[in-house]
Amino acid sequence: MSKSKYEYVRTYEDSSDHILLKDCYIVVRIDGQKFHKFTKRHNLLKPNDKRCLDLMNESAKHVIKCFFPNIVMAYGQSDEYSFLIRRMSDLYKRRQNKVQSLICSSFTSAFVYYWSQYFSSNELFTDRRPSTLSSSVVTLQYPPAFDSRCILYPNAKVVMDYFRWRQVDCHVNNLYNTVFYALTGQYTKYLISSSSSDSSYKITTCDKQVQPMTPKEATDRLSKTISSDKHEIMFTDYGINYNNELEQFKKGSIILLNINDDVLQQIKPKKKNWDQIREDIDVDLNQFIDVKHCDIIKDEFWDQNQSLLT
Ligand code: GTP
Ligand code: MG
Repeated sequence: MSKSKYEYVRTYEDSSDHILLKDCYIVVRIDGQKFHKFTKRHNLLKPNDKRCLDLMNESAKHVIKCFFPNIVMAYGQSDEYSFLIRRMSDLYKRRQNKVQSLICSSFTSAFVYYWSQYFSSNELFTDRRPSTLSSSVVTLQYPPAFDSRCILYPNAKVVMDYFRWRQVDCHVNNLYNTVFYALTGQYTKYLISSSSSDSSYKITTCDKQVQPMTPKEATDRLSKTISSDKHEIMFTDYGINYNNELEQFKKGSIILLNINDDVLQQIKPKKKNWDQIREDIDVDLNQFIDVKHCDIIKDEFWDQNQSLLT
């Protein structure tokens, strides 16, 4: 077929499609757009709504499976998720436009696709139900969006420090939010349900009922407090032992692709590359995916998972 005279415009695309520098680690981070509004509109529990955090994890697992075996680790907290692409990956020939946009749109569509599974659960219940939880079914009110950015890291140290930075951010924000919402009377406590052997939770408000502060009063009360003051306020005034908060809330979620090169080669038909065969794989990729809520700041995690950074 002869080319049209307009075909030349395609050449402009080439110069706008950056190739991500080879030998560098690639991190793609997605972040919910205006989630302060989204979480308010959907009456999400404060400071953490486990349904939403679990949905974020499900969406991240979907992304890892879509791009198997290129994403080796992901870290999520609040409305964000970071994906680490293996250093030697040739995913989409390292074209930034493809890699970044597909990770972001796969995550977003999974978030919408799985929403009803996570927001129609009867497992989450409370004996002192806050008025906002009049129904356990929450209908998605409008299409959420996530932004994305793609960052290159030249060595293992800076990749480790990147993930440490995100986990410190999680810790600082969660500590602040937990005491803040205790002060305003909006704090939700999660207890592993004693009536069930599976992972269902009972939610309740504070054990001690103290006159709630306005957000302004709470902000003023917390200004100039250090970490130990916040622990003390929670424990003394509200009976909250911060150490007993769920690890998922305090540390965020770490998803690891747990597969060694031998197993990888076994499931990969010879002479095919991963892009060609990803859809043909008939093994359940869930078996290679672990979700943890552990410390990634200390060296121990990185010593035990050295293959992430090869
Ligand atoms: P942009 O990212 O700049 O578009 O704004 P944003 O409103 O999304 O702010 P940001 O990403 O900095 O912060 C995420 C916000 O999501 C938090 O400030 C909370 O308001 C909200 N959020 C995240 N997770 C939860 C949750 O589990 N429960 C509730 N209630 N809110 C949450
Ligand atoms: Mg956001």
